[in-house]
Amino acid sequence: MYSVRKVTEDITWVGASDRRLSLFENIYPVPGGVSYNAYVLLDEKTVLLDCVDRAVSDQFLENVSHVLAGRSLDYLVINHMEPDHCAAVEEIVLRYPDVQIVGNAKTFTMLKQFFAFDVDKRAVQVKEGQTLCTGTHTLSFAMIPMVHWPEAMVTYDLTDKVLFSADAFGTFGALRGNLFADEYRFEREWLDEARRYLVNIVGKYGAQILAALKKVEALDVQVIAPLHGPVWRENISWFVEKYRTWASYLPEDHNVLILYASIYGHTESAVNALAGMLADAGEKNIAMYDVSVTDPSYLLAECWRCDRIVFACPTYNAGIFPRMETLLAELAAHNFQNRRCVVMEQGTWAVSSGKQIREILSGLKKMDIYEPVLTVKSSLKEEQLADLSGIVEFLTH
Ligand SMILES: Cc1cc2nc3c(=O)[nH]c(=O)nc-3n(C[C@H](O)[C@H](O)[C@H](O)COP(=O)(O)O)c2cc1C
Ligand SMILES: [Fe+2]
Ligand SMILES: [Fe+2]
Repeated sequence: MYSVRKVTEDITWVGASDRRLSLFENIYPVPGGVSYNAYVLLDEKTVLLDCVDRAVSDQFLENVSHVLAGRSLDYLVINHMEPDHCAAVEEIVLRYPDVQIVGNAKTFTMLKQFFAFDVDKRAVQVKEGQTLCTGTHTLSFAMIPMVHWPEAMVTYDLTDKVLFSADAFGTFGALRGNLFADEYRFEREWLDEARRYLVNIVGKYGAQILAALKKVEALDVQVIAPLHGPVWRENISWFVEKYRTWASYLPEDHNVLILYASIYGHTESAVNALAGMLADAGEKNIAMYDVSVTDPSYLLAECWRCDRIVFACPTYNAGIFPRMETLLAELAAHNFQNRRCVVMEQGTWAVSSGKQIREILSGLKKMDIYEPVLTVKSSLKEEQLADLSGIVEFLTH
């Protein structure tokens, strides 16, 4: 059965959600599922904007066919070539053989790499600022390279003032009938997942996101229609500001985040003592995670959210405990920066994890790292509480 929602009089959402997927991109857990959005514009010409992932392509094809209601498909606009959106392209071409495909030069290079059908005979190549008239609607195109691949672009409908934003403004999470962000308690139910999506998928490309935001600002956008998650028609500037904060590597909340690894519990015990002292000092909403328990994608998102971070970690075979090492590598790979940090190391015979963690953190931009690294030998001792007080002082003043 088809399942579609109107975005405007002429534009209909024809996407679908996957609630079975365990790992998005085969790496990020998605316990709340994920949606793949696509849109049909019915004008004098018919236009399909993007496709979907293989997992939901049957539902999508049924939706497209229902909305077209017997009409042929004139254009397929490909804003983003990643297979979570393009897996169904070949099926669209087979069903609508006269369709013309709209994309930029890089889109067509990738399309030919992924598919064997005749791309050239269908290609309508567009450049930055170019427009396509479909009757009463005019579509214009703007490039947003590296949000999230080099060929990524956005399409703006000048008539309905809808921005088809590709992966930008997307979030993890399946849709539940409701399409618009204002139909959900977004801040309560979606914001954490929107942050986790942004940080992990495109967190590395803050500068490119800011460049894309500049282009968006130049337009009169009434609706943002992303490729994942809810569509925005209210409070757009609130969400755009969130994006600007995340892309600028600015913390969102004045909160302490404690990230620890512990094999036998002594490091955990030490950070519990620290957390209690922070609470005594008036610190509220302290966040604390065992890095062996929580997937790094959540921890990365928390690092983006909080302004002060404590890393506590045992030495493990003369190195950093592996789960913590993974997290630090992820932070570095995502260009993480601009935080106040404390490092606590643990070990029983040759303690070195702290020095190694400090070295990694020093390689990131604008990190304010507390000196010295606190060294705990096997278990925290009464006389070290003064050292914890120094840390609390640094974090709270
Ligand atoms: C496999 C393994 C390797 C370890 N390697 C080191 C090491 O190279 N240097 C060291 O000082 N301690 C080493 N340790 C000790 C840990 O750092 C130890 O777990 C810690 O002192 C106690 O903290 P915890 O209770 O939070 O795990 C190792 C422990 C394990 C289980
Ligand atoms: Fe993508
Ligand atoms: Fe995507």
